Amino acid sequence: MAVPACPRVVLGVAGGIAAYKAVELLRLLSESGCEVTVVPTKSCLRFVGAPTWAALSGRPVPEDLWSQVHEVPHVRLGQEADLVVVAPATADLLGRAAHGLADDLLTNVLLTARCPVVLAPAMHTEMWEHAATRANVALLRARGVLVVEPAVGRLTGADSGKGRLPEPGELAELCRRVLAGTEQDLSGRRVVVSAGGTREHLDPVRFLGNRSSGKQGYALARRAAARGAQVVLVSAVSAGALADPTGVCVVRVTSALELRDVVLAEASSADAVVMAAAVADYRPVERAAYKRKKSGPLTVELVQNPDVLAELVAARAAGQVLVGFAAETGDDDGDALFHGRAKLARKGCDLLVVNQVGDPGYPTGFEVDDNAATVLSAGGSSTDIPVGSKDVLADAVWDLVRAFWTGTLAATD
Ligand code: CTP
Repeated sequence: MAVPACPRVVLGVAGGIAAYKAVELLRLLSESGCEVTVVPTKSCLRFVGAPTWAALSGRPVPEDLWSQVHEVPHVRLGQEADLVVVAPATADLLGRAAHGLADDLLTNVLLTARCPVVLAPAMHTEMWEHAATRANVALLRARGVLVVEPAVGRLTGADSGKGRLPEPGELAELCRRVLAGTEQDLSGRRVVVSAGGTREHLDPVRFLGNRSSGKQGYALARRAAARGAQVVLVSAVSAGALADPTGVCVVRVTSALELRDVVLAEASSADAVVMAAAVADYRPVERAAYKRKKSGPLTVELVQNPDVLAELVAARAAGQVLVGFAAETGDDDGDALFHGRAKLARKGCDLLVVNQVGDPGYPTGFEVDDNAATVLSAGGSSTDIPVGSKDVLADAVWDLVRAFWTGTLAATD
């Protein structure tokens, strides 16, 4: 489906301090050619007044159920919209939407809308984590509403944590993709992505690590969420090094053992797991409680870490697609793809994304923004993904995962 020439968007704004950010979202949506009608709740108007919404949208602002009744706005707005986006969606608004209440214009719009609905919650961490909010979000998601995962950062007052409204630019981009329609081809799927390099601590200040930046894993998570999947990103990237992708649930880990526990727990209900993380093969046998002092040569004994991908293969549910990553070089025994194919067979996963490191013309894959790869499938097929952004490579990987789900790429291809 192409983006309508002048999409009609209803921007609902609930009563949270983040309403000020919706002003910027309105501007971005209008500038991108959308005809935006703002429907503020009564509490929203205590934060940002109707003249602001009217001036920036260039349209009248219905302030309650009882204005312009002859135009039946409580039904018409929802029926005619190409997209309804609510930002911020408060805990109260989520509760009313989940339970089908219709006590103001915005909740009426939500009940009459037949177009995609995006809710971008913003609230304090405690409210977001409360069992009532969790249940409301689960209900809304089960009904096909795209509930964006809040960002982590500064909240109202001195607090910080999860519950921040994602930046207006990210929300505008999400709206654009939802309007494009084709971007929602992973909706209804739950996926887990691991990213970054694990750190195996020698003592409280030193660790064995690797060069993985986590950028490719973050791109995979970002693109899956943009295409409608529910995404858990198990991140071994240090906090703050990369921005949390919009709409993604990020779980932070440090060591291979931590990563293993979280990935295995999350994988039990996932349709796909993509292991983009560089998991350390070894960890020190001992982690010193205090900073080690130097005293001549040091020998560190290492013990092998569990192979997470192999454990996923052993525990996999029917229909679950498992994807591994491997950076390979050629040697006297064969080229990078020869070693990739052997690794795919050894690991038993469905797809292996092979970065042919060291080949002229191929970026290394580490730290840089571009990547190139060849994706090998267990059935024997091979797909070359030329040098491009990590988002492009991520999309190509999800296309192949989707091909497994839809049966167009079988394990025996
Ligand atoms: N992997 C894993 N657990 C480990 C090591 C690796 O799950 N302990 C995963 C990586 O996330 C990646 C894939 O396995 O998706 C391949 O990683 P790689 O390091 O290339 O594989 P190894 O089995 O460690 O092979 P090698 O002996 O070549 O290092």
